[in-house]
Formats: sequence, structure tokens, C-alpha cells
Amino acid sequence: MSRYPTEYRRSLAEPEAFWAEQARKLHWHKPWDRVLDADKAPMYRWFTGGQFNTCYNALDRHVENGRAEQDALIYDSPVTGTVRRYTYRELRDAVARFAGALRAQGVRQGERVVIYMPMVPEAAIAMLACARIGAIHSVVFGGFAAPELAKRIDDAQPVLVVCASCGVEAGRIIEYKPLLDQALALAAHPPAHCLVLQRPQCLAQLQAPRDLDWNQAVAAAEPADCVPVAATDPLYVLYTSGTTGKPKGVVRDHGGHAVAMRYSMEAVYDVQPGEVFWAASDVGWVVGHSYIVYAPLLQGCTTVLYEGKPVGTPDAGAFWRVIAQHRVSTFFTAPTAFRAIKKEDPKGALLQKYDISCLRALFLAGERSDPDTIQWAQQMLQVPVVDHWWQTELGWPAIANCLGLEPMPVKPGSATVPVPGFELCALDADGRRLGADEIGNLVLKLPLPPGTLLTMWNNEQGYRENYLDRYPGWYLTGDAGYVDADGYGWIMSRIDDIINVAGHRLSTGGMEEVLAGHPDVAECAVIGAADPLKGQLPVGLVVLKAGVDRPQDELIRELVERVRSQIGAVACFKQATVVTRLPKTRSGKVLRATMRAIADGKPYTAPATIDDPKCLEEIAVALKGLGYPAA
Ligand code: COA
Ligand code: AMP
Repeated sequence: MSRYPTEYRRSLAEPEAFWAEQARKLHWHKPWDRVLDADKAPMYRWFTGGQFNTCYNALDRHVENGRAEQDALIYDSPVTGTVRRYTYRELRDAVARFAGALRAQGVRQGERVVIYMPMVPEAAIAMLACARIGAIHSVVFGGFAAPELAKRIDDAQPVLVVCASCGVEAGRIIEYKPLLDQALALAAHPPAHCLVLQRPQCLAQLQAPRDLDWNQAVAAAEPADCVPVAATDPLYVLYTSGTTGKPKGVVRDHGGHAVAMRYSMEAVYDVQPGEVFWAASDVGWVVGHSYIVYAPLLQGCTTVLYEGKPVGTPDAGAFWRVIAQHRVSTFFTAPTAFRAIKKEDPKGALLQKYDISCLRALFLAGERSDPDTIQWAQQMLQVPVVDHWWQTELGWPAIANCLGLEPMPVKPGSATVPVPGFELCALDADGRRLGADEIGNLVLKLPLPPGTLLTMWNNEQGYRENYLDRYPGWYLTGDAGYVDADGYGWIMSRIDDIINVAGHRLSTGGMEEVLAGHPDVAECAVIGAADPLKGQLPVGLVVLKAGVDRPQDELIRELVERVRSQIGAVACFKQATVVTRLPKTRSGKVLRATMRAIADGKPYTAPATIDDPKCLEEIAVALKGLGYPAA
């Protein structure tokens, strides 16, 4: 019998007692006055009055309690041929020195530091160093282009940017510094200084006096100690895609976040202190924040920071090599990665080279897990494969099979049950609670548990409008789905125009803004079409301005290049086609969902309000020309 039902019921019936019990497992410089502060509901706060430091709990606490010589972080980089280990003592010392360097550059408590770095240990060191001195980090994923970086700089208004000279993708070097220089030229609020980590693969040109060398700054710095901050103070801002091109800055606190992170390692992932946990993601995404950096360290585990891909670095056995070499007990990645491995090595021949008997479970998230991929992974690895659901905003899993509470029976296609702290239900358009199996908007009851978003950076109004106003008392997830009679959650699709490409969350609205900026484009739509490898791929449909008469290939190349240089390679925008008009309702609303259904080969009926049903035939032909529906 699973312990889950009892624990779940208790988390909702007595949330304060429940979370206080979890909070006591961490070190508080001063205990909280109130566990849950509802004074400004629906803007809830956890552990008000408490004094806390996330870095102290992630590093120093373990050094002082017998884990000083245990590996805290293993950097494994097949693209540079490097494996480097940091014990908890070494990582604490490196973080303290870098925190001193930040201080020396004038970074103070509450100020922002933007981190634009590839998967190098210094990225985690920079994050923890900010936490150490109470500065707020904002990590920007390396696959974003300069204008996206500039938008985030302008919103966060950092006093300093930390970057590396380059990233190493399979087979090519990506120079980060020219992208940063470009972003700073575009930004309305560029910081005074940049700290640059020079990687041997490519040295960046430093512009004195603005740019400083990481090593020199560290060499000149005194180690800085942990600063106790209010538990409710921001630890980080992480930007994520919304429905428009303006990213949303998710704000997370110190105290509640750490409590949730540690709890999730135990309850969801069933990982004990001393064990090796690996999340193959990137520090630029929420999975990287939560499960490469914070949660494993708060739990006293060894975390693996992997600079490589599932395939091509050097082959489809890369994941098995890392699991075997570092004795990984629990592994987390996106379904796309497994689809890529399965495509290259369908019979798992490369797996035979490695002893992965250390592995106890595989967790998948970030996008829908198709049953074939789950089944294949289970057959190959012979361990439980857990599909679990969450979002950047939530910070940790909200629907999962909690292995630490003894697993529940699996229902293929469902991410299983709501995690303790999260009350899940589906509502109809009028806010009525739907019954079992009825599809509606998935919502979570307020207050959300610790570790979830507090607000949007500098934009409380936006937070309310995007998530809280639609259904008072509930958080709107943006996903459609249902809850079945046994309380299992089933995710169907997004209710907005956010798409998921290879586990990366992207805004089609943002891509449309870029296409619309092309001088020849009158109007456009970008839809996410189903793709067997990456889950979804963006497809652009553009209408040209009257009188534009140019070779289409040339124009499409320009549009692709435009998205690449303004949003980034990560958008994977490679397909577009010209149409004479877009399907619309009589009131002028573009029928994106209908076009998506056509692209995916799903049945659809043109809405009664459609302006001209014939238009859909042209769209079907245009999409067919691009290979949709995909075979
Ligand atoms: N810095 C710079 N560029 C980056 C980048 C980074 N950190 N990450 C990706 N890119 C680039 C890639 O080089 C690629 O460029 P290209 O168009 O010139 O080839 C582009 O962005 C798209 O990248 P990606 O979607 O990763 O495709 P890919 O073809 O390089 O790799 C997979 C395919 C399936 C191997 C890869 O998508 C993958 O590992 N997916 C797992 C996703 C994942 O871990 N998600 C994390 C969320 S949990
Ligand atoms: P992100 O903020 O990048 O983590 O993306 C969150 C979105 O990804 C969710 O709102 C879902 O639409 C989708 N998603 C995440 N995990 C899953 C999952 N296990 N199954 C289906 N969709 C998922």
C-alpha cells in the first residue's frame, strides 16, 4: 500500500504543520514567525520572518556535517574531453571566492546578476555565489540570440553580467562574447561590468574597463561568507516564454524554494543524501536550476553537470556511459532525448557496453511522453520510467508518481497523481469544477505550496492577469486536461500558443512578432506542428504585402535567418511557406488551432464563425508542401 494517499491528504489538510516539518530539516539563521502568510492573498508567502541562506544549506551545511570530502558536483564534458570533480569543500570554497569577486565588483544584496553561460561548473558556481551574498541571479539559456538576451537584461536591470567566452556544441564553437556585446549595445540598461570566463576553446576580446577576466577577479578576491536573508527574499528570476515576445520573469524565494527542493528529492525522486543524481538539461532552464543545481545539493547528493548531447557526443551510448562512469542512481531528462537515442540505436546495442545496474529510475518531463518512448526506455533500462508534469512557474513537479512515498499503480499516458501540496482539478470556461474524465482547463488551488513562483519580476499585475484572474482562488496552468475518477492527472495540450520543441518552451507569438517585422510580410501565423523527434516544430505561414514579387525560397531563407538571429537557434524555426490569406473568424481572429489540427492530420471542423472556409484548403495544400501531416 502506497504511503502517498495519507501524505497527500495531510499536505492539504494541514499545510502549515506539513511544511513546517519539512522546513525543520534545513538550517535557519532565524526560524520563521509564520509558516504561511496570507495577509496579501492571493499573493501568498511562505516562512515570513525567517532568516535563511540557500547557499549555506546547499554547501556549508554539508561541509560542517560530514560531507566535506564527498563529491558535490561532477562536470562531465564529452565535447571538451573533460571530467572534473568538486567535493563539497572545494565547491564551497570556489563559490565563496567567486562571491567575494562579485562583492568586489559592487554587487550588493537584492541586486541582479545575469548569467549567460554554457554548461560549465562556473555557471553553477556563479548561481550559488549570488545566493551566498543575497544577490538575485537570472540565468539566460545560451541558445538565445542577442536581442532575447537584451530583453532579459532590460527587464532584470542587472549590475553585472557573468558570461563565458564560448559554448561548445557538438562539432562547433559558439562564441558567447560577441552575442553579449551585441545584447549590451541593444539594451537600454546595460550593466557597468561583465565578468568573462575565458575558455581555452576560444578566447574572448575583453573591452576595458567594462570587461573583467573571471580568473583575475577571483584571484584578487577575499572569500565571502553566507549572508542570512529574509526567507521570502528573491533567490532568482528565470525568464520563460509567454504568449507574446515579452518573456515572463518567474521569481523564486530562498526559504520556501529550498524546502520544496529538498522535499522533492526525498518524496518524488526517492534519492538519499550521498547518492548520485543526474538531470541532463541545461542551467538555463528550470530543470537545470532545480535539479542540476539546487535540489541535489540541498539534499547532500552528488550532481552531474553534463556538457554534451544524448547523441553525437560521441554516439547514442553517451547517456549510458555517464550513468555507468559516475554511478548515477536517478536520471532525469526530456523524452526528446530518448527519442533521439532510440532513432540512432533502436536495439540498444551501445547499452551492452556499459554496466548501468546502479540506475534505479528514469524521470521524464518537459513535454508529452509518448507511450512508445516510455515503453522502449523501460525495456532498455529495466527500471521504472516516470513521466511527471511541471512548469517553469511551479519549480518542481506537480503531478508525478512519488517514488519516495512508494509508487502508485501506473496508468500509461497519465503523469499519475498530484504531488503533496498541489490540489489539481479541471474547470470549465465558467469556472465550474468538472467531473471525472471531463476535459477542461487544468488549475491548481491557491495557495500553491512552497517553491512555486511568488510573482513575475517587476510585474505583479502581469502575474495576476496571466495566472490568477481567470479563476479566483486558482492558479491557471495554461494546460488543458482532466482528472480521472482515481485522481490521476492527464495532460492534453496547451490552451495558449506556447509550443514545446525538443523540451524547450517557445512562444509562437514571439516568432510571429519577428516575422511580422520583415518588410515584405503583411501578416503571419506560426503554429507548432507535431514532429516525431522533437515533439513539435514551429511552422510559419506568411501573407505577403501587395506588390511583393520575389522568389519565395529567398524570402523564406530571410525569414528563417531572422528568427535565428533575433530569437536564437534554439527556436528551430526552419520551415515557412507563403499563402494568399490566413483563415480567420469574421471578427478577424486567426484560426491557429484549426491550422494545427490540419498540420497534425487530426479531424477538425471549421468554426461556424469562419470568414471563408475555402481558405483552409489552401492551408492544407501549403502544409502538405512542407511535409505535414508528418508520416
Ligand atoms: N547554445 C547555443 N546553441 C544551442 C544551444 C546552446 N546551449 N543548445 C542548442 N543550440 C542550438 C543547436 O546547436 C541547434 O543549432 P542548429 O540549428 O544550428 O543545428 C539548435 O540550437 C537547436 O538545438 P536542439 O533543439 O537541441 O537540436 P539538436 O538538433 O542540436 O539536438 C536533440 C537534438 C534531440 C539531441 C536535442 O534537442 C536534445 O538533447 N534534446 C533534449 C532536450 C533537453 O534536454 N531539454 C531540456 C529541458 S528538460
Ligand atoms: P516548461 O515551463 O518549459 O517546463 O514547460 C511547461 C509546459 O511543458 C507545461 O505547461 C506542459 O505544457 C509541458 N509539459 C511539461 N511536462 C509535461 C509532461 N510530463 N507531459 C505533458 N506536457 C508536459
